[in-house]
Amino acid sequence: MSAGAALRESAVPQRTTLAPGQTPDADVVEPIVRVDQLTIRYGDFEAIKRVCLDIPPRRVTAIIGPSGCGKSSLLRAMNRMNDFVPGVRVEGAVIFNGQNVYAAECDPVELRRRVGMVFQRPNPFPKSIFRNVAWAAQMNGYRGDINELVEQSLRRAALWDEVKDKLSLSALALSGGQQQRLCIARAIALQPEVLLMDEPCSALDPIATARIEDLIDQLKSQYTVVLVTHNMQQAARVSDRTAFMYMGELVEVDQTNLIFTRPGNPRTQDYITGRFG
Ligand SMILES: Nc1ncnc2c1ncn2[C@@H]1O[C@H](COP(=O)(O)OP(=O)(O)O)[C@@H](O)[C@H]1O
Ligand SMILES: [Mg+2]
Repeated sequence: MSAGAALRESAVPQRTTLAPGQTPDADVVEPIVRVDQLTIRYGDFEAIKRVCLDIPPRRVTAIIGPSGCGKSSLLRAMNRMNDFVPGVRVEGAVIFNGQNVYAAECDPVELRRRVGMVFQRPNPFPKSIFRNVAWAAQMNGYRGDINELVEQSLRRAALWDEVKDKLSLSALALSGGQQQRLCIARAIALQPEVLLMDEPCSALDPIATARIEDLIDQLKSQYTVVLVTHNMQQAARVSDRTAFMYMGELVEVDQTNLIFTRPGNPRTQDYITGRFG
């Protein structure tokens, strides 16, 4: 065994029985989402090639890789947002809580409530701050105290203190960073289990970005987060696990600290050291 291999061997955490109170390594917990042999085609073009990926619950999983490698396609497959893309074909399975989301009996509307999404550009409705959070929940049949739900969702999205005195103001009057936190509050109000985020900070300044990163870190105590980012520092800062994609393939997935210090694949090494991308 080479010195490098010996180092790698000793650095990999042992997957043995957990001591009481010990945080389980993602490899030993049951995934909440399992992507199994997923292929996505746009016409004849294969954008995702037989990808397998397990998403552990209440962790942040980052998906990184150069532009066009299929990150968004993979993310959108998890709550069937790809259904809206004309000419898309999907093979393989995405198992969420034990059910294939592509099975005929899966209701995509209910799926998207349980697996919410936050997009690259904040996209609040042209309504009040309050209505933005309340509306989707009410449309989904929420019967509880709506004021309480709005407050709780805004608090969880770390926006409450900034907006509590102006809930009737148009959401469009907020800054970009506040709008993005409002979109996160809107997603949270549906009480999802998984939050998919597609480059949620790419339209934001560094201060707003830092706030969203702090928020992601807090959210993972309750939600499972899958974060697509082209920003490797962001992946290193906020995620527990990182998946590296290249040209439609999932090259490698591991604990974030291992991906960024001792990647197992030379293509990952080349990408994280800035040799391409
Ligand atoms: N609606 C579409 N129609 C045709 N090709 C698409 C469509 N969406 C994405 N693609 C192609 O699929 C590949 C992966 O795209 P995408 O998932 O957006 O990658 P990323 O998010 O990593 O930039 C790219 O080559 C892109 O051009
Ligand atoms: Mg993308």
